[in-house]
Amino acid sequence: MSIGHLLPDRMILISFLPLPLIFSTMLIGVYITASHQGLSCPGWPLCPNGFQFPIPKYFFENLHRLMVLITFIAIIAVTIHSIIKVNKARETSIAASSIISVQILLGILIINTKLNPLVVAAHLSIGVLLFGMMLITFLSYYNLEKYV
Ligand code: HEM
Repeated sequence: MSIGHLLPDRMILISFLPLPLIFSTMLIGVYITASHQGLSCPGWPLCPNGFQFPIPKYFFENLHRLMVLITFIAIIAVTIHSIIKVNKARETSIAASSIISVQILLGILIINTKLNPLVVAAHLSIGVLLFGMMLITFLSYYNLEKYV
């Protein structure tokens, strides 16, 4: 279905982009948990190797945080666009921006509490909530034609 006369197709694509980004970030996070690497990088926001090329010891932690940064930028971009142009997606995208901010704080808390199980469980749940919120945002972009 094309809604090109309402929104450029690239905006629909951009509103979709956070979904694979969140999914991949979650997948890497689960891998970190399952392989017991959660405390391999004790610092925040950077691991001890700083901005240098990821070394094997911190590879997945570096990747998780890099993906978070890219995902954060993508979600903020969709939020700004929806505030300006897409009324229908405004609330859910603002909610997603707030949720990802909470998720980042929880990520810091995971490290500071040395993998407190409740915090890790909350981190997983908030990840699912974030995915759901961006899915609704994307569907609002995609289905815009039906509602206008
Ligand atoms: C978009 C933001 C984020 C998403 C969607 C996300 C998602 C996840 C998921 C799904 C897990 C696996 C949890 C489990 O297996 O129960 C995880 C693990 C983890 N995340 Fe994140 N995360 C995000 C941001 C962050 C940030 C900013 C940090 C900060 C350093 C962080 C640190 C960690 C750590 C250390 C683990 C491993 C926990 C363990 O070993 O049990 N996450 N993440």
